[in-house]
Amino acid sequence: MNQKSIKALLGMKADQQDIVVKGWVRTKRESKTFSFLEINDGSCLSNLQVIFDQNIPEYANLTVKLTTGTSVKVEGRLVSSQGGGQSVELQATLIAIYGLADPETYPLQKKRHSFEFLRDIAHLRPRTNTISAVLRVRNALSMAIHHFFQERGFVYIHTPIITSSDCEGSGEMFQVTTLPMDKVPLNAGKVDYTRDFFGKRTGLTVSGQLEGEICALALGDIYTFGPTFRAEHSNTARHLAEFWMVEPEMAFCDIAQNMDVAEAFLKYIFAYVLEHCQEDMAFFNHWVDKTVIRTLEHISQEKFERITYTEAVKKLAAAKIEFEFPVAWGKDLQSEHEKYLTEQVYKKPVMITDYPKTSKAFYMKMNADDKTVRALDVLVPRLGEIIGGSERENDYEQLLNRIKSLNLNPADYHWYLDLRRYGSVPHAGFGLGFERLVQFVTGMQNIRDVIPFPRTHGSAAF
Ligand code: 4AD
Ligand code: MG
Repeated sequence: MNQKSIKALLGMKADQQDIVVKGWVRTKRESKTFSFLEINDGSCLSNLQVIFDQNIPEYANLTVKLTTGTSVKVEGRLVSSQGGGQSVELQATLIAIYGLADPETYPLQKKRHSFEFLRDIAHLRPRTNTISAVLRVRNALSMAIHHFFQERGFVYIHTPIITSSDCEGSGEMFQVTTLPMDKVPLNAGKVDYTRDFFGKRTGLTVSGQLEGEICALALGDIYTFGPTFRAEHSNTARHLAEFWMVEPEMAFCDIAQNMDVAEAFLKYIFAYVLEHCQEDMAFFNHWVDKTVIRTLEHISQEKFERITYTEAVKKLAAAKIEFEFPVAWGKDLQSEHEKYLTEQVYKKPVMITDYPKTSKAFYMKMNADDKTVRALDVLVPRLGEIIGGSERENDYEQLLNRIKSLNLNPADYHWYLDLRRYGSVPHAGFGLGFERLVQFVTGMQNIRDVIPFPRTHGSAAF
């Protein structure tokens, strides 16, 4: 028989075809002589309605056993539906059960569960409407990212997960070691890393950028898209310890061109998801945030605002509201400031450049004022920072000075400095936090609910 996904079936005509569908029971309604099942197989948000009556084998038995969560195979004919809500339904001739789901203990019953509750059952939550929709949208967003870069000739590079360089220099690296924890070898009172697996201290990457730069300075335009790790202690709705990052890096590119790419990139992705995920997006717009579709449509059209950090500070200083964190030139912009700028002042994405050197990483290009660097942050309403990037320091002496002044060891960066000694070119890039993107697109409040298995401080279950 003809096995179909529910997504395919719902697009078909009711032509009495014999069909096989496999999935999980969402609900059952029964009467003495016939019953309805709603089956979902994850191929789309919609369920397939199955109608079955006393003519099928084991009718009485089935009506008892087919509870929410039971996995089934249904054979039947596709007919047009009498009820509202769907155009076709399956008239079952046979229903076989793969696995029961005891209604006494199965945690997902037909009601709304809180996201907190669902996080504790991350092994079952992909079977809910919200999380399955999130996972389908994640899939579409990943494809949109590859399409965008591939259409423009960028080369997809795989940067290492284990590395010895802390790109952001913020000391948030998870350590990777095979040294025995209960008997760490010492040399003059310090850990002897020469005896560790790699002969030096290593950790999980916080960013693929530095290796991305190596490849951009040979291949032109490249991008990475992989997992990154940060030992984040901040317990917020937008930080994970393991998240995915998309990082393009472009040779012969300055900060202005970098901004153009970032803006075109986000707009492309938003348009893509509106076109390819209509059913799931309608779901988010109805149940999660009634403004998501309107916001994405609006942003795909609008020119992003472009201001400097200094201008941003002026706007914030002039604000009529009281911030929790004080505003002053030289201080980091906090999430409340970022939200104020995007939500109250400009009401659209804002690109902020030229931050004080003290608040940014060592690799960013110094401006002529010797106080600011060519950093770029892209802020969006509701979330704040979604992209962080910069033009890179391409001058050998400047970079060496910067490394020294931050008390970093130039020997550790010899290869990075070499890129500035041999055939150096202006280059720039940025990193998009993939989960922040999923949050923004779906309207989901908490970053833990847009990744199947969140890792946060104190939590790495499943
Ligand atoms: O601003 P960040 O730290 O920039 C970099 O890592 C650069 N090396 C990128 C580059 O230029 N190639 O991080 C980039 C983005 C942030 O804007 C944010 O969206 C996301 O990564 N991000 C996180 N997402 C989830 N959880 C965390 N703990 C995150 N930290 C950063
Ligand atoms: Mg940043």
